[in-house]
Amino acid sequence: MEKITVSLGNRTYPVIISNGLFKDLNSFWCLKANDKVMIVTNQTLSPIYLNEFIILLKNLRIKVDYIILPDGEKYKNLETVNQIISSLLKQSHGRNTILIALGGGVIGDITGFTAAIYQRGVRFIQIPTTLLAQIDASIGGKTGVNHILGKNMIGAFHQPISVIIDTKFLCSLPSREFSSGLAEAIKYGIILDNLFFHWLENNIDSLMALDENALIYCIRRCCELKANIVSIDEHEIGHRSILNLGHTFGHAIETHMGYGNWLHGESISVGMVMAACIAERLGQFKKSDTEKIINLLKRAKLPIRGPIEMVPKDYLTYMMRDKKVISDKLRLILPLSIGMSEIRNGISNELIFDVINECQDCAYIEN
Ligand code: NAD
Ligand code: GLY
Repeated sequence: MEKITVSLGNRTYPVIISNGLFKDLNSFWCLKANDKVMIVTNQTLSPIYLNEFIILLKNLRIKVDYIILPDGEKYKNLETVNQIISSLLKQSHGRNTILIALGGGVIGDITGFTAAIYQRGVRFIQIPTTLLAQIDASIGGKTGVNHILGKNMIGAFHQPISVIIDTKFLCSLPSREFSSGLAEAIKYGIILDNLFFHWLENNIDSLMALDENALIYCIRRCCELKANIVSIDEHEIGHRSILNLGHTFGHAIETHMGYGNWLHGESISVGMVMAACIAERLGQFKKSDTEKIINLLKRAKLPIRGPIEMVPKDYLTYMMRDKKVISDKLRLILPLSIGMSEIRNGISNELIFDVINECQDCAYIEN
């Protein structure tokens, strides 16, 4: 079993990673007899995992309620939050309740946000079931829902009390969703860790074959990198922004294409290529490194070109609503080399237009 700590004073919490944790009573050290919990999950996961989980919690003499939400990014909204709140109230959950997110990033973000606002804040546990949520979304306390005009535009920082990662969940995850998670792993390599990027180049096939050792190494490294950044800059005053490499473009794609049609990892895959191309045009990033990124994304079965339906103007409309925009000026995360990145202000809209166009036509970008 691997344990990583997110160090945040009296809100410090562990991220535990192993194979089979979900069935292990010891994983639920943060619950005690007579605690009351509300499991939040969805219609895809409940037939596979819910009953077994309820039995495990009942063996610990926990009082268990649950809510099963419809599946999909398009349900990550305030209506769903309201539905969970109604369920909590109807079943008399007080301020000492504990919400448990059993699902991918969508369930984690919705549950965390509900926990942040229910009766001014209650505790919650993350049990992430997708690769993307295991290596990124479940850690760091960014919670929230989408608005029709923008992705993740309503939210709060609210940390879980524990993150329990079981690689066994990945056996039932569709391969397109697994690839979406790999986009975030590749992101960590590009922004922070050259050696990890090379490790991914050497191990991407083992990861895609769900090799247990490769999975544990990859998840642990990503969680370590994220835990370090969150411990330093919980509220994204500065350094944490680099975790958003490719996200400004990616959120534009997700919103424009209709939530759920382009997966989060697919959208940021394209966004990372665009960011690399901008960095290249600014003379701060080698073309050979852009090619390395593109090759790795392709091997992970991720798209590297944006949707043909979108023109540069479409991106800009959404990008100007990005949470990193300050006084109408875009700020982008750009790579400096593989393993190093920066937050860059004042990039002209003309350059962004050019690069989006160029990325659609570029000779070395072939989907
Ligand atoms: P998701 O939660 O929609 O899950 C993907 C799909 O896989 C869903 O259909 C889900 O039901 C299914 N699924 C999940 N686990 C499964 C399993 N073990 N077996 C079979 N099917 C399974 O998508 P995601 O990629 O996990 O998360 C994307 C969301 O996470 C986006 O909304 C994104 O904005 C958010 N996100 C948040 C953060 C953060 O820091 N809070 C970071 C990155 C992404
Ligand atoms: N996924 C970006 C962050 O947590 O900051």
